[in-house]
Amino acid sequence: MTPLIEVENVNKAFGGLKVINDCSIQVAKGSVTGMIGPNGAGKSTLFNLIAGALTPDSGQIRLAGEDISALSADQRFHKGLLRTFQIAHEFSHMSALENLMMVPPGQPGENLFATWFKPGVVRAHEARVKRRALDVIDFVGLYHVRNELAGNLSGGQKKLLELGRTMMTDAKVVLLDEIAAGVNRTLLGDLIGNIERLNREMGYTFLVIEHDMEMIARLCDPVIVLAQGSVMMEGSIEDVQSNPEVIEAYFGGGSAA
Ligand SMILES: Nc1ncnc2c1ncn2[C@@H]1O[C@H](COP(=O)(O)OP(=O)(O)OP(=O)(O)O)[C@@H](O)[C@H]1O
Ligand SMILES: [Mg+2]
Repeated sequence: MTPLIEVENVNKAFGGLKVINDCSIQVAKGSVTGMIGPNGAGKSTLFNLIAGALTPDSGQIRLAGEDISALSADQRFHKGLLRTFQIAHEFSHMSALENLMMVPPGQPGENLFATWFKPGVVRAHEARVKRRALDVIDFVGLYHVRNELAGNLSGGQKKLLELGRTMMTDAKVVLLDEIAAGVNRTLLGDLIGNIERLNREMGYTFLVIEHDMEMIARLCDPVIVLAQGSVMMEGSIEDVQSNPEVIEAYFGGGSAA
């Protein structure tokens, strides 16, 4: 089966600094694939290359077999490739529910311009978006704070809201970059449970960067280890944790994760 995401021989340098080195990874459809590696290994850079925020110097990125290397981040988003959003500053003055309702529609036919002169259609559209937002906010466990300003939510609740925003579209694959950072254990459990449900019940594929090994162990198979911009190894969490090279990369060089 064609992998959902394929990164093939990708290179990226910033000035003279080579950050991604002839890197190739594949993410299988329906998987929750983990990505770990020491600080500065190039994980976030690789995400930005996949999501389209950065352009590779060479190499190719494919989504479901289609070369998307030349597409903008926005075009990739509309093909169902999402990376978690930071909650934008101006959105902190909207309620949690309104934040979900602001997510640009990912569906053709939900284009507001197409319905601009048809108020009845717009109202029906808004009602549909609101229903979906209410479903989503319930799903991520934030129903009780739906009318709170997003800016007043805790760090963990904001992460759940970010996850909710990805659910407002019909995502195929979601890239999560250190979503567990600063989240308390209870909310982290909710977050993991929600990711599992999105994966199992709704067919989402995830690529998860995480330093939290407990989260990686609970969620991810396989796990890709990135070091100095290329893949050091890929395998189950057990394989990875017992690999001497990985142990050295994490704990040997003083740059423990
Ligand atoms: N826009 C940029 N311009 C210059 N250098 C950059 C840029 N973005 C990243 N880098 C450098 O590229 C290297 C890899 O950074 P990256 O953020 O991808 O690492 P990471 O694996 O995500 O690390 P961490 O685990 O700390 O988040 C680092 O040395 C970083 O300083
Ligand atoms: Mg990073």
